[in-house]
Amino acid sequence: MRKGLFLFPSIAALCVTACAGINHEPKDYVLQMQKEFTDFRILQLTDTHIGDKDNAKLHYDFMDLTIESAKKAAEDAGGKLDLIVVTGDVFTFASKGTAKEFFKWLDGHNIPWTLTFGNHDEQCFFSIDWLTGVLNKYGSNCLFKDLQDDNIQGNSNFAINVVDKATNTLFEQLIVMDSNRYNYKGYFGYDYFHQDQIDWYEQLVKYTATTNGNVVVPSLMFYHIPLPEVRDAWAAAQEDHSLIMNPTGEGIAEAQQNEEPCNPDYNSGFYQKIKELNSTHGMFFGHDHINNYVINYDGIHFGYGIKATDRVYADDSLLGGRVIVLHNDHSLTYEDYYHTYAEVK
Ligand SMILES: [Fe+2]
Repeated sequence: MRKGLFLFPSIAALCVTACAGINHEPKDYVLQMQKEFTDFRILQLTDTHIGDKDNAKLHYDFMDLTIESAKKAAEDAGGKLDLIVVTGDVFTFASKGTAKEFFKWLDGHNIPWTLTFGNHDEQCFFSIDWLTGVLNKYGSNCLFKDLQDDNIQGNSNFAINVVDKATNTLFEQLIVMDSNRYNYKGYFGYDYFHQDQIDWYEQLVKYTATTNGNVVVPSLMFYHIPLPEVRDAWAAAQEDHSLIMNPTGEGIAEAQQNEEPCNPDYNSGFYQKIKELNSTHGMFFGHDHINNYVINYDGIHFGYGIKATDRVYADDSLLGGRVIVLHNDHSLTYEDYYHTYAEVK
C-alpha cells in the first residue's frame, strides 16, 4: 500500500527510506486454498454498499438467498461453493461496527471469502487502512492479505493460489487487486491501475511461472473499476452476441438495458501487459450497477458482476449474484442468480 506524500523537502529527505515502503517478494503476497472437486466455484457478489442507515438484516437476508442458490447448485452438481468474492463498494457511510457486522455475517456461512475495495469504501466512518488492518487479522474463513508497509498503490493487492487437492499441484491463481478510487491530478474522475501495480502483477505472474516449471499459470482477476477496454468489449458484443458468455447476458444486450461504463479516463496500459503475459483469462469487476454481462473479448472474459443489494442505484430485476464455474480444463461457464426483495420482506 502506497499513498501520496505531501512533506517539506527536508522532512521528505530524512524519511525517504521509511516512507518509500518495503519491497516484498512476490511470494509474500500469496495465500493458498485447495480445489477439492472437478469444478472450482466462485460466487461473485458486488456493490453491496452497506451503510449505517440501512436495514442491514434485510440486505443480509436478501444476499442469503443468492448464497443459498449458489450453494444448492454446487451441491446438485456434485461439488461445493468454494469461495465468495465481493468486488468492491462493500460499504458506503458505514461505521466500524457496521463493517464488523458485515464481516461476521459473511464469515458465518463457513465458506472461504475475500474482497477488494471500490471507490466508495473510503466514504465511511473509518479509513481504508483501518479496514485493511481488520481484514489482514480476520482469520477464520477470510482470505485477505495486503502488505500495508509495501510500496504498491492500493490496499488489496494479493493472490490466492488454488492448489489441486488430488495432485497437490497449482491449478489456478486468483489475483485480487485494488483499482483505487478517484483521480484528482491529470483529470477529475476514477483512478486507474498505477504503474507500480502493473509491475507487481508482472512480477507475480512471472514468479508464479518459475514455481510451476517455468509454465505460465492460468489466472483470474478480481477488482472493482473496469478497465477502459470494457468499452471495446461491449462494442464487439453489440455486433456479435455470441461473445456474451453469461446465460442472462444476451437478453440484456437485446434489450439494451445497460449503462455506459464509468471506466477511468486514463488508460495506464494494464490490458496490454495482461495480454502480453498470457496468464489471466478472466477479469471480474463491478462498479456499473446495471451492467451484468460477461464478454469474451479476444480470449479474455470481461465480467461485470450482478449487483448484490438494491443500495445506491440498481435495476431491481437484476439483483443477486453470479457463480463463476472454473472447470478442470480452465474453461469458464457462468450461473446467474437473481432474486427480489419481495422474497424477504
Ligand atoms: Fe457501486
